[in-house]
Amino acid sequence: MLVRCAYASRSVDPLTKPVLGAILDVSRQRNPEAGITGFLCVSGDIFIQVLEGGRDEVSDLFIRIATDPRHTNVRLLAFEEIPQRKFGSWTMGQVDLRKVNASLLLKYHEKAELDPFTCSARATMALLDELASTAAILGKPSA
Ligand SMILES: Cc1cc2nc3c(=O)[nH]c(=O)nc-3n(C[C@H](O)[C@H](O)[C@H](O)COP(=O)(O)O)c2cc1C
Repeated sequence: MLVRCAYASRSVDPLTKPVLGAILDVSRQRNPEAGITGFLCVSGDIFIQVLEGGRDEVSDLFIRIATDPRHTNVRLLAFEEIPQRKFGSWTMGQVDLRKVNASLLLKYHEKAELDPFTCSARATMALLDELASTAAILGKPSA
């Protein structure tokens, strides 16, 4: 059975390229063996990650990620059964929201900035869907 999990969190330290690179490296190394796909979106110190895969695998990974000391304020936005993957093309894609068109952010938010902690999860999920369809997600395609 397939599920999709999405959460938001805040980096504990200012997010640097090496820290983000290390997270993406371990994700791209380990997610394929667990059949997990998805992407990690960063905006300043905010992370939003979407994980898709089997219920056991996604649950185990989410629990591991949620206790990672590199981030805090981990907040679930969605955990739902899905008939099919939406983000199956990425072992762990990456979106840098600084490179995303301001009008796309304004479409779903009061200001052209992301705040998944105050806005509705539905608005954040709609934005993530649109990011996938506008090819804003970068990264190695899954095998
Ligand atoms: C924001 C964030 C996203 C992460 N995403 C993943 C992921 O998709 N897959 C993964 O294996 N580890 C991910 N990690 C790293 C895990 O928390 C953990 O450090 C890594 O899987 C190694 O786990 P282990 O040391 O218990 O073996 C993420 C960490 C953070 C902070």
